[in-house]
Amino acid sequence: MLIREATPEDWARIWPFWHRIVAAADTYAWDPDTSEEDARALWMGPAKRVFVAEDEAGSVLGSAYVTPNYGGPAAGIANAGFMVDPDHAGRGAGRALGEHVLAAARADGYRGMVFNAVVETNPAVGLWTSLGFTVLGTVPRAFEHPRHGLVGLHIMYRDL
Ligand SMILES: CC(C)(COP(=O)(O)OP(=O)(O)OC[C@H]1O[C@@H](n2cnc3c(N)ncnc32)[C@H](O)[C@@H]1OP(=O)(O)O)[C@@H](O)C(=O)NCCC(=O)NCCS
Repeated sequence: MLIREATPEDWARIWPFWHRIVAAADTYAWDPDTSEEDARALWMGPAKRVFVAEDEAGSVLGSAYVTPNYGGPAAGIANAGFMVDPDHAGRGAGRALGEHVLAAARADGYRGMVFNAVVETNPAVGLWTSLGFTVLGTVPRAFEHPRHGLVGLHIMYRDL
């Protein structure tokens, strides 16, 4: 697996799984009907540093971004987002993207990283915990999960 900076041409290969994941409405607090144009702005906007994970054949397995979570005096705290194509899940791309993003954020001088809205039922909570994040708090009954009903959103953080 190779992790590299995304190019604008990569979007066409990110969008199919981006749409599938957001339309499932069980992990991201984004409109399940988000248009491709709006999705591109959310994922690849100018403030975002975007990566893709590719397999040996050049297929895009997943993508991640890192961006300042706040502005001005708090711009040293990063935010990141992660999506792995469900057809390629469970093969280590998510963990590899996580480790890569943490290293890139540290190299870019960020002091810490925060996830603003991790659905508490998402198995990714275990992945983030294993990568050193802790739950700072949970907004209760914030997310209408299609199968679990109203569930909390964790704010997760780690120092870099
Ligand atoms: C979360 C996500 C990025 C993980 O990517 P992935 O490539 O499947 O993850 P990996 O194969 O690297 O697995 C990482 C670890 O998480 C665990 N894990 C990941 N997804 C899991 C799932 N659905 N159920 C159970 N465990 C899971 C794995 O067991 C693995 O543990 P290990 O490294 O100790 O063996 C991916 O499932 C995804 O895109 N989900 C939808 C979007 C999302 O939830 N993004 C994160 C928002 S906070």
